[in-house]
Amino acid sequence: MSNVSSGSTGESKQADTLAEDGSNGVTSRRSFLAGAGGGVAAVGVGLLVDSPVASAHGRIRHGESHRRHGRLTRGDEAILRFVAAAETLEADFWQQYNELAGIQDSEVPGGSGNPTYAAALATLDDDMAQYIHDNTDDEITHFTFLNAYLESRGGRPVDLEPFRTLPSSTATGAQQIKRLTNLMQLTVDTTWYTRYRSDNKNPDFGDSFPPAVPGLLQGQFPAIPRSDADLTPSDHLTAIANTAAWHFPTIEQGGNSLYPQLAQRATDAEVLRVLLSIGPTETMHFQTWHDIAGDAPPITDPTNGLVFPDLNSPPFGGELFQTNLIMPEPTIFLSRKLPIVSIIRPTETQGAAMGALQFLTADGLIRGQSQDFFRFMEELARNADRAQRFG
Ligand SMILES: [Fe+2]
Ligand SMILES: [Fe+2]
Repeated sequence: MSNVSSGSTGESKQADTLAEDGSNGVTSRRSFLAGAGGGVAAVGVGLLVDSPVASAHGRIRHGESHRRHGRLTRGDEAILRFVAAAETLEADFWQQYNELAGIQDSEVPGGSGNPTYAAALATLDDDMAQYIHDNTDDEITHFTFLNAYLESRGGRPVDLEPFRTLPSSTATGAQQIKRLTNLMQLTVDTTWYTRYRSDNKNPDFGDSFPPAVPGLLQGQFPAIPRSDADLTPSDHLTAIANTAAWHFPTIEQGGNSLYPQLAQRATDAEVLRVLLSIGPTETMHFQTWHDIAGDAPPITDPTNGLVFPDLNSPPFGGELFQTNLIMPEPTIFLSRKLPIVSIIRPTETQGAAMGALQFLTADGLIRGQSQDFFRFMEELARNADRAQRFG
């Protein structure tokens, strides 16, 4: 997978757009029409929708003709603020993985690598370091873009910096800074694995699913070495790498549901476009990591008894557990009277933001955070869940 992200042309175009929009976008649009000549204003709307248009400076601007203007509705702002916060948390924990087992470079700076932990993860896939780097890079751009977009539409960005209070791993390679998230006491819910393999159940119908790795739901486990003491014995380190390999898709499948869940209540077409353009990248992450989790070797951690079962042998195996079944199995959707269909699940929109916050909390990812942090996140989630389409 190559890591060609936004090119310089795209970046400068975006910068132009943001600079020109400001929070007073309605005025900008009027000025633009006036600049194009009052006589064409009456037919201008059709042109704006369908074709690239010449700016007042005579340049052709592809894409920008579709920019929306004016302030966000309260609901759209709340949805964007919640996903901006969730993306900030995602970026923070991916950053910690990257410092130890990714690629530290100008796109994702910080840390200096932990060769022993990186090697344990690389046994699952030769491209592990690149994938970790690229996922981290994606998350950084997600929250950075969402905050900039909020501001460009007169909304308030989300700043979680005051909540950066959690400790770093002291293992070789980790930066010694305060963190927003905690990768050292995870309780990983792997029920998504069987949820995506069922052809007759759907969480939106109230169904529940067995976890692929039951042990990960029964304690608190590190997904990164807490210190260099965690680098031995080797089966313990393998269990830590396995925990990470299962944590990656567990988090990404959450994002893969959250965006379609919240998009259903977006009012503005451009906000919908933002949500529909970011959400599927979470799905791309999820699918990649889903494949890799299945390669985590069966092992028991000698230090704490955590078991990673062989998912291809009894009592596992079959449709629900076989590790190469990584495409979503078609299942029931909307009504049992309709034919089954291959879909993201869940996508129920009611209470989705609070559900996502509860999922992050149960995962242990924000274990140790302050009451103020939880109050702040709950308020963001409540406001996002109050958002109504056209409300
Ligand atoms: Fe993201
Ligand atoms: Fe993500």
